[in-house]
Amino acid sequence: PLKYRFIAAAEQPGQRPTLLLLHGTGGDENDLLNLAEELTEGHVNLLGVRGNVLENGLTTRFFRRLGTGIFDYDDLRFRTDELVETLKNVSASEGFDLSKVIALGYSNGANIGGAILQKYPQLLAGAILWRPMLPLPDEKPATSNGAPVLLTSGQTDPYFQPANMKAYEQLLTSAGFRVQHEILPSSHNLTQQDMTLAREWLKTNF
Ligand code: MLT
Repeated sequence: PLKYRFIAAAEQPGQRPTLLLLHGTGGDENDLLNLAEELTEGHVNLLGVRGNVLENGLTTRFFRRLGTGIFDYDDLRFRTDELVETLKNVSASEGFDLSKVIALGYSNGANIGGAILQKYPQLLAGAILWRPMLPLPDEKPATSNGAPVLLTSGQTDPYFQPANMKAYEQLLTSAGFRVQHEILPSSHNLTQQDMTLAREWLKTNF
């Protein structure tokens, strides 16, 4: 099981959606809490999870990589299953609705969030993926639940590969996900535009 921190919505947490917070490389379960609170103002449950892979024995991640942007697909598959199992267990113990989970992931966290979409295309109610890459190029998801997905890339981000992102968009769209992909004038870092887009997307879809 992964380490986590759960913060219940102020009212009726059992009925509210839950944001699954997935940090970038080197982060932990608290990393995205402030941004998530800013986005949801106590109306939504927040579940921050800590990746349990250590790079060089030190840096937290959700799955192993072999080099910059080169993923260990076997490990990614295994960690995705493990994360989904944790999510199911925590939903039972904390009493939130598993059918109302929206992933909010940045960078490495966006990539495992995307792997959930690919491996479990019926599970998430939606996903906001900041600075993502196509996680599992060989995994064509079965029919999805049609959940909305927001992807934000940085135009000058060294991890941003336009062809890879086109393939990602096509793969998600053909599974029935409702994809919105925005390319922002930024690098790998998050910007105010990522927040604004996420806020508008949440308001439109939830
Ligand atoms: C990844 O490993 O998921 C990406 O390369 C981004 C990152 O460095 O976390």
